Amino acid sequence: MCASIFGSNRWQTTVLLLFMTASLAFCGKCPRSCSCDLKKLNVACISKNLTQVPPTIDEITLKLDLRKNDLQELARGAFQHTPYLTHLNLQGSNIRSVREGAFRGLGRLVHLNLAHNNIDVLYQESFDGLLSLKQLLIDHNRVEEIQPGAFTQIGSLNLLSLTHNRLVYIPNMAFQGLLNIQWLKLSHNSLNNLATEAFASLFTLTRLSLDHNELQFFPTQTMTRLVEVTRLDMSYNPMIYLGEEAVSMPKLTHLYLDHMSLQDLSDTALANAPLLTHLDLSHNQLHSMEPIAGKQQFFRSDNEAKELSLLNLTGNPVYCNCHLRPLREWAQAGPVKLLGVCSGPPHLSDEPLGAVEPADLRCRGREGLTKEELEETEAAAAQLLVPAPKPKKSAGCPDDCECEPEAQHATCEDRGHTKVPQGFLKNTSLLDLRGNHFHNLPSNSFRGLADVVSLHLDRCKIREIESGAFRGMKDLLYLYLSDNDLTALEPDTFAGAPQITYLHLDGNRLTQFPSAATLAPMPSLLELYLDRNAISKLEPAGMLSSVKMLRALHLTNNSIDSVVAKAFDPAPHLDKLHLQGNKLTEVPTKAFGNLPLLRELRLSGNSIRWVGPKAFMPVAQSLQHLYLDGTGLAKMSKDSLAGLGSGLLTLSLGGNQLEGLPSLSALTGLQEVNLADNPLLCDCSLSPLRKWMDNVSLKVSATCAAPTELQGQSVREVSVFQTCPGDDGPSPPKSPTKAKSAAKTPKKIKPKPALLKGVKPKPSKAKPRPVERPKPSAVPKEAKKIKKTKKTQ
Ligand SMILES: *[C@@H]1O[C@H](CO)[C@@H](O)[C@H](O)[C@H]1NC(C)=O
Ligand SMILES: *[C@@H]1O[C@H](CO)[C@@H](O)[C@H](O)[C@H]1NC(C)=O
Ligand SMILES: *[C@@H]1O[C@H](CO)[C@@H](O)[C@H](O)[C@H]1NC(C)=O
Ligand SMILES: *[C@@H]1O[C@H](CO)[C@@H](O)[C@H](O)[C@H]1NC(C)=O
Ligand SMILES: *[C@@H]1O[C@H](CO)[C@@H](O)[C@H](O)[C@H]1NC(C)=O
Repeated sequence: MCASIFGSNRWQTTVLLLFMTASLAFCGKCPRSCSCDLKKLNVACISKNLTQVPPTIDEITLKLDLRKNDLQELARGAFQHTPYLTHLNLQGSNIRSVREGAFRGLGRLVHLNLAHNNIDVLYQESFDGLLSLKQLLIDHNRVEEIQPGAFTQIGSLNLLSLTHNRLVYIPNMAFQGLLNIQWLKLSHNSLNNLATEAFASLFTLTRLSLDHNELQFFPTQTMTRLVEVTRLDMSYNPMIYLGEEAVSMPKLTHLYLDHMSLQDLSDTALANAPLLTHLDLSHNQLHSMEPIAGKQQFFRSDNEAKELSLLNLTGNPVYCNCHLRPLREWAQAGPVKLLGVCSGPPHLSDEPLGAVEPADLRCRGREGLTKEELEETEAAAAQLLVPAPKPKKSAGCPDDCECEPEAQHATCEDRGHTKVPQGFLKNTSLLDLRGNHFHNLPSNSFRGLADVVSLHLDRCKIREIESGAFRGMKDLLYLYLSDNDLTALEPDTFAGAPQITYLHLDGNRLTQFPSAATLAPMPSLLELYLDRNAISKLEPAGMLSSVKMLRALHLTNNSIDSVVAKAFDPAPHLDKLHLQGNKLTEVPTKAFGNLPLLRELRLSGNSIRWVGPKAFMPVAQSLQHLYLDGTGLAKMSKDSLAGLGSGLLTLSLGGNQLEGLPSLSALTGLQEVNLADNPLLCDCSLSPLRKWMDNVSLKVSATCAAPTELQGQSVREVSVFQTCPGDDGPSPPKSPTKAKSAAKTPKKIKPKPALLKGVKPKPSKAKPRPVERPKPSAVPKEAKKIKKTKKTQ
């Protein structure tokens, strides 16, 4: 007997009998390689090399443990035979991919563990059907992409954990649909960029973990969307500065900014975090700090505003002189608990910050002599800016570099090195060598640095890279070679660094597109930046054949005047093609034959006067964003947009010479249309456009340039079209409606160049918003600027 029953009334008995019958059935149905706990309705099939979910698991099972098997792929409906599951453990089961609908039917599942697998992409609707799911663990996988709509079907989820993956970028609306999420864990990834709306729609999130990533600046805009977050962990990111009002989060109480590379923070950095009570700045590079301004001053009257109660400065080289006095006095008045010790001067060395008396915080002992003290102050300040005692100066950090062993970062930016410094710690993961003078990079320049993920070599006057310069950098994902003097690349330039995923070669002097052989050592390449070079031709056919994963190709501002037929043949994953600012005279239709996933095509700023029939036909199925503005375009064939349909979301034709337009009525999905700054001729031939405008709930700025009496008026407002004949087709007879319209609106409307956003409702889940791909960026300019010009008084 598997279950005993006690029933008191008939109904209950019936239920229990049913249950017992089921339990009996359960007894008989334990798959061979599993063990079954019949009372608790648990089934465990651990470490059994199973290649599929055993089909004979009893239907009424509640907990299923399939750890350490060899499941490879979870197909659609893989668990449809066990609809009552509440817990499913799939840890370490060699899962590479979770297909759409894999968990369909598990409407009662509460806990799903997918940790320690090899999942790289989270597909749209991978988690479809998990209506009750509260916890989803996908830690320790290889996730590098979250497709739009991946989480739209799990509105009950409280905890989503994606730690130890390979995320580098979070696109807009990535977490859309998580209506009850409380804690989102993204620790231990390689995030260096978060789209502004990355966390939009997470209105219930209270806790966010972003520690151990590659964020080089505080993503202010992105974070302001998180209106309910109270705890934010950003530890172990390579940030050096926190700017004015950087943190703007109304409910934040706990902020962890420890183990970063902060050298300074603006006194108003936290002014817009009125409830902050706990600030951890331990293990940074702060020599001094001003009182945290704004918060107390601005919010003192506000009942809700809280004062800081803890400021942790442990592990900073805080110098206890007169510069620190304002902070110390402020802390005393707060009271704010100050943690940390003085690093100097000698007589205060190791004194707890909370114990030093403000009066002892002097500059060279000349307290009281105001004028002199002021001078001293300045002298001391100047001394501090020449980085004073460098505690990190030790084995594992070359001369004239700064290293953060715990964060695995090393930087030797703008130090005038003429050779790549040697002797970095083996576990260095971010190596910043920007702004030096290498001229030449010899073979094996980075020997022993196999753990580097991000290598910055921008502005290093590099003219030549020898074969195998990066050899041995087996983890290298980001390689920045922007703004150097490269004119050519050898076939073996990138040999031995097979993981390179983002390659920045913009701002060089390359005259040719890198050959297929040069690209071949980088089979994982996703984004290639070649903007601002001197490339004039895109040839030969099959240029991208060795980098089949490529998603984005940036070729803005070269001198490209021709693209050979089949140039991109094939590029099965290419999603973005940026060709703006070149010298093309026609749309290179013949090069588009094998781009099945192309979504964004930018051709703005070329000299394309005419677009012929079916110009976009080869990519019409996938294209979502088309930019043709500022090309001098004077005429478009009426079939020029043939093939494009509801999939097109953006059409930008602004700043051209168009008098008329082909019909847009097939483009039913448009969300953004830019027609501004075209000399539109407002007669009946434009009537289809006007009808279309009346029919869509989009704001479209289109202005008449002719006839003269309508010049400057909005196409939407002029009445000239009222008298045009029926809906079918463009009808040439010009209509004389001068008197009416001229009398009605004499005003002139200035054409607005701005791109206009549609006011349509959001597209349904079937048509996800476009995902922007990462633009891994270096330290933002403004942060650098502030850093360099700070503290002038
Ligand atoms: C699992 O399968 C592999 C290869 O298919 C085999 O070498 C191994 O012995 C199997 N392990 C068990 C526990 O069956
Ligand atoms: C202050 O920071 C140190 C070092 O990170 C840490 O060990 C300590 O727990 C922190 N103290 C508090 C109260 O958070
Ligand atoms: C990197 O290596 C150094 C020296 O071996 C060590 O002190 C440091 O803790 C290591 N960092 C990490 C994050 O493991
Ligand atoms: C291309 O050049 C234009 C005009 O100089 C400039 O505004 C734009 O930022 C450049 N774009 C890139 C990606 O270099
Ligand atoms: C206006 O919209 C309706 C419904 O979407 C469509 O059937 C009709 O053809 C449209 N008319 C024009 C002129 O675009």
